[in-house]
Amino acid sequence: MSEIPLTQAPAHVRHGSSIGQPLTRRDGILKVTGGARYAADNHPPEMLYAVPAVSSIARGRVAFLDVAAAKAHPGVIEVMTPVNRPPLAQDPDARTNPFAFRLDVLQNDKVRYANQPIAVVIADTLEAATEGAALLAPRYETEPVRADLDANGSFTPPTVGVGNPAEAHRGDVHAGLAQASRQIDATYETPAQYHNAMEPHAIVAAWDGDRLSIDMPTQGLAMTQGRLAELFGLPVENIHIRSRFLGGGFGSKGGVSGPQVLGILAARLTGRPVKLVLRREQMFGPVGHRAPTRQTLRVGTDGDGVLTALSHHTKTTSSTFDDFFEPASDVSHTLYASPAIATSHEVVRLDTGTPLFMRAPGEATGSIALESAIDEMAEACGMDPLAFRLRNYAEVEPISGKPFSSKALRECYAQGAERFGWAGRPLAPRQMHDDEGRLVGWGMGTATFPALMFQGNARAVIRSDGTGIMEAGAHDMGQGAGTALAQIAADSLGLDLDEVEFRSGTSDLPDAGIAGGSAHTATAGMAIHEAGADAIAKLADLATGDQRSPLFGAGNTGVVARGGRLFRRDDESRSESYADILARAGLAEIEGRGKSAADPAAQSSYAKHAHGAVFVEVKVDPDFGQIRVTRLVGAFAAGRVINPRLVRSQYYGGMIWGISFALHEKAVMDLRSGRPMNPNLGEYHIPVNADAPSLEAILVEEHDPHVNALGIKGVGEIGITGTAGAIANAVWHATGNRIRQFPITLDRLL
Ligand code: MOS
Repeated sequence: MSEIPLTQAPAHVRHGSSIGQPLTRRDGILKVTGGARYAADNHPPEMLYAVPAVSSIARGRVAFLDVAAAKAHPGVIEVMTPVNRPPLAQDPDARTNPFAFRLDVLQNDKVRYANQPIAVVIADTLEAATEGAALLAPRYETEPVRADLDANGSFTPPTVGVGNPAEAHRGDVHAGLAQASRQIDATYETPAQYHNAMEPHAIVAAWDGDRLSIDMPTQGLAMTQGRLAELFGLPVENIHIRSRFLGGGFGSKGGVSGPQVLGILAARLTGRPVKLVLRREQMFGPVGHRAPTRQTLRVGTDGDGVLTALSHHTKTTSSTFDDFFEPASDVSHTLYASPAIATSHEVVRLDTGTPLFMRAPGEATGSIALESAIDEMAEACGMDPLAFRLRNYAEVEPISGKPFSSKALRECYAQGAERFGWAGRPLAPRQMHDDEGRLVGWGMGTATFPALMFQGNARAVIRSDGTGIMEAGAHDMGQGAGTALAQIAADSLGLDLDEVEFRSGTSDLPDAGIAGGSAHTATAGMAIHEAGADAIAKLADLATGDQRSPLFGAGNTGVVARGGRLFRRDDESRSESYADILARAGLAEIEGRGKSAADPAAQSSYAKHAHGAVFVEVKVDPDFGQIRVTRLVGAFAAGRVINPRLVRSQYYGGMIWGISFALHEKAVMDLRSGRPMNPNLGEYHIPVNADAPSLEAILVEEHDPHVNALGIKGVGEIGITGTAGAIANAVWHATGNRIRQFPITLDRLL
């Protein structure tokens, strides 16, 4: 069996295995030299360009399109509308599984939100298609729009997130609040954020009879393939998807989006390959957004600053035609040891596109409110915010009563605080200034995200020359999965990284599970680990059962794989190379298969989460209210670290998005038209380099044997949790103002 010690070496120590090494991305040079081919870089012969025309109203119907004018435009080949759109085998409004969201693919003339595709113009050139789309000059019949949180009646959704109960409680919150000697009751608002990965949603689709060949970015090859098979009535094996590189996903590329299906339909209609790439402003509608929230927290403590009650209620939004409910309150299930907890959700349907998973859906929004409220409670108790959290952090998961890795959380608090220098923090606000007279404040927040695992598969091969292949239909969204998973593959096969050919990113490979829920390294990684172990076990059987092998009689538990050789565990002087074993057996190669899934027994006995603590310094201009984040230190414990460089970069990315959440990002809706008014990256603010401070991410060593054999938790989402709340708390510490509406803009401070 290949041997992977479960002790995690410090990041800088090479310990003979690929796992744990801070390698740069293996595709990094391809990316920075332009050699990495993203979906929209493909250009098959005879390809046409498709440009969607999108609705400028948010509710009503399309009464007229000047199709004749568009068709008469030079270069325009075809105009696709509900009248001539090729048929689908399945209703795009069917909801066959929790991830199959309803799509707008010209099934009728109804408009359900702004920027919904209402026609597609297909032309020889991108310019001709764009001009043709402008000539459609739609006329609409409009209906009154519901565009804000109070614009429609609310209801309690059946579930939130992916099937969590909308309401949960443990203990008696009313009694807990009644007996509290101090309490707060505060309401926080977070805005809508629209999915804007650097690479917009794109597709190049080509039909060959009833076979469909596609280049598109996806976080879920098998899921996307399955949905397309249903929509087009094809066997899954007729659909081939290449998704080798993604320019970000963040939850928006889990399934196929409506515009991508329109690209496939346009190829069907014209009989030629078609490319469709969304323009930036077209991202503000059909590809998902983080729903706005209004969250009310009621928290009580006794005279010693010990929590007696915690209630967290979220009002949020969904679309009029589909269900996605941001589970913002659920973060209060796990962090603080209140004897009484109640969480609930309420939803309003608006004339928007359907909200969707966006990096840490629920935890990101919910932790802003929770961490702000905890800070306010600490203030009310006259306690240091860290001391207050240490008094109230949970030893077991509060809502379920199950044990979890709270020791690691304590370690995050300790290491983060030490590194940041938290001990020198004055308790009262407005105590610190810098040389330029700016107000300085320090704040903190707790980070948390569940350690999930889905089902995955992988296939390993050891070849007669002693090298290996690992196949896993995994997804590299830019996070570095192709590198980290190859590191796991190399160790699983007892080979060096460059001796293993790692195949990934296409739909013909074994389904390695979606890249979502921060579960991809655990899911695909464990399948890979098992596939490698299976191949090695078969090789060991060949050797130990053969009298001619120096390993004869060792039994396959008595063998270790390393450096392309098997060694007797009890006598390392006796070994044999993979190549020799295969040659003697007359085999060109040997194959192993691996599967992964969460262990149901561990699942029911333990609560599994990654943890972290984030410490922030802000400086605020006392005259203009301008806020700068100047220091950000996060300490995170997320199980075994496969590649410290990539893990750190995930934390940095998450924390910078936390800055965005706290200070920049917001879709501004025109309440009369229901249109987003800032659908571009000029006015939809995100942090640029000048907004990103000195960042540090501490990788807190954690050893959680219950998550999976490799001890891997996820790192993709936890960095965004905790940070925005920490920034709000630092702004209070600098200025004495509690801002409860996000993003915190300078007008709110003045
Ligand atoms: Mo993530 S929001 O699970 O891609």
